[in-house]
Amino acid sequence: MTDPVLRWAEGAGTGVLLDGFHPLKHALRFGAEVPVAVTTDRSAALALAGELAADLVDTLGALLTEVTEETYASLVPRPHPTGVAALAVRPSRAGNLRALARTPRTAPVVVLDNPRNLGNAGAVIRLAAGFGATGVVTTGTLDPWHPTVVRGGAGLHFATAVERLAVEELPAGPVFALDPEGEDIRGTKLPDDAVLAFGSERNGLSAELRARADHLLALPMRPQVSSYNLATSVAMALYHWSVTGGASVTP
Ligand SMILES: C[S@@+](CC[C@H](N)C(=O)[O-])C[C@H]1O[C@@H](n2cnc3c(N)ncnc32)[C@H](O)[C@@H]1O
Repeated sequence: MTDPVLRWAEGAGTGVLLDGFHPLKHALRFGAEVPVAVTTDRSAALALAGELAADLVDTLGALLTEVTEETYASLVPRPHPTGVAALAVRPSRAGNLRALARTPRTAPVVVLDNPRNLGNAGAVIRLAAGFGATGVVTTGTLDPWHPTVVRGGAGLHFATAVERLAVEELPAGPVFALDPEGEDIRGTKLPDDAVLAFGSERNGLSAELRARADHLLALPMRPQVSSYNLATSVAMALYHWSVTGGASVTP
């Protein structure tokens, strides 16, 4: 086996950093290709796997290479309490676009229209993975594969199709755009092929997205509260889909 530091150097330019045990666990569970994984304490990492991811003990046993604290610190921007880090191969855009375009869809696509906050985007990807959404599409300049988004997504970018697209390239399907001025979402059943769109933290939905929307839906909210946080709005809408249709979501 080649030196893990060399393999890390080979993958660092294009690989997705999995920063800690849990992102590595999630990425492996959802089929990520992980060419290199290091730990400062192999037996502690495998003990953690035994406790929290019995399904991955053998995989992690074969994958994890122990390195010194100094080597580990030289590979990651900041050390993680679990002392585990790995690089994964980013899924191809072509494959993600195929997944987003595939019909009939069994679960919605979430669209974040020009999101600004990297932490919100990560939290939304984690939600989409949990609900089995088909994918998360962002419009605008934010990179949904930015390392901070990946950190917020806890390794779950590999469990759903995550891509950036222009509004005119959004997947087919009825667009349900979420907006405080819309109709009460409680009167609407969200279909499995819904495109659920959410506006940016500061400005809400763009004119382009509004023009593309088939329905404008509001989440219940008391008068005098202006809006909810973006990620919590996605959580409520996906939960609403899961209870009104959402046949594919099982606890
Ligand atoms: C922080 S809010 C945006 C607030 C922004 N100032 C505005 O004018 O809409 C981010 C996004 O969350 C969703 N959202 C927040 N509260 C909502 C509500 N009560 N009903 C429906 N969507 C909501 C919308 O998609 C909104 O564009």
